[in-house]
Amino acid sequence: MPAVGEDITVYEAAGGTTFFAGLVERFYERVAVDEVLRPMYPNDLAGAKDRLTLFLVQYWGGPTTYSDQRGHPRLRMRHNPFAVDSAARDAWLRAMLDALEEAPPPESVRSALVEYFVRSADFMRNTPDAPAEGEPRL
Ligand code: HEM
Repeated sequence: MPAVGEDITVYEAAGGTTFFAGLVERFYERVAVDEVLRPMYPNDLAGAKDRLTLFLVQYWGGPTTYSDQRGHPRLRMRHNPFAVDSAARDAWLRAMLDALEEAPPPESVRSALVEYFVRSADFMRNTPDAPAEGEPRL
């Protein structure tokens, strides 16, 4: 079997757009009931689902519809309007990893996605953490 990334893309090995659409659907089921994340997103999650699906499809080697519609991803910049501290990062990552484990792709794909989500969720942090109760504000 070819190693992922050599002869076939992660996109293909994962099962194409169907896989990423399913992953994002399960991710947003969790966002919808998450007390940290829910208030950050618009009431109607349909557009956000489309954007995340198309982005992941493009990132992993599928069609480039995301950039055709949205231009260069510039994801950190696009997250500037949202206060992403470590609690938001952890909530996002938990929701994504749980969504992944609910219907895991082949192991080589799974490990590539886990590594990527851990790294990129941390990269999106743009806000210092709120001080804990009783902690002095220095
Ligand atoms: C770390 C915590 C994160 C939080 C709290 C967060 C939150 C958000 C929010 C509130 C939006 C706006 C929803 C919308 O599109 O209408 C958004 C957009 C988006 N996020 Fe995140 N996000 C996080 C991490 C990530 C990561 C790690 C990725 C990629 C792997 C990602 C990919 C995207 C994409 C592609 C969009 C749409 C950008 C656009 O075209 O406008 N986000 N995010």
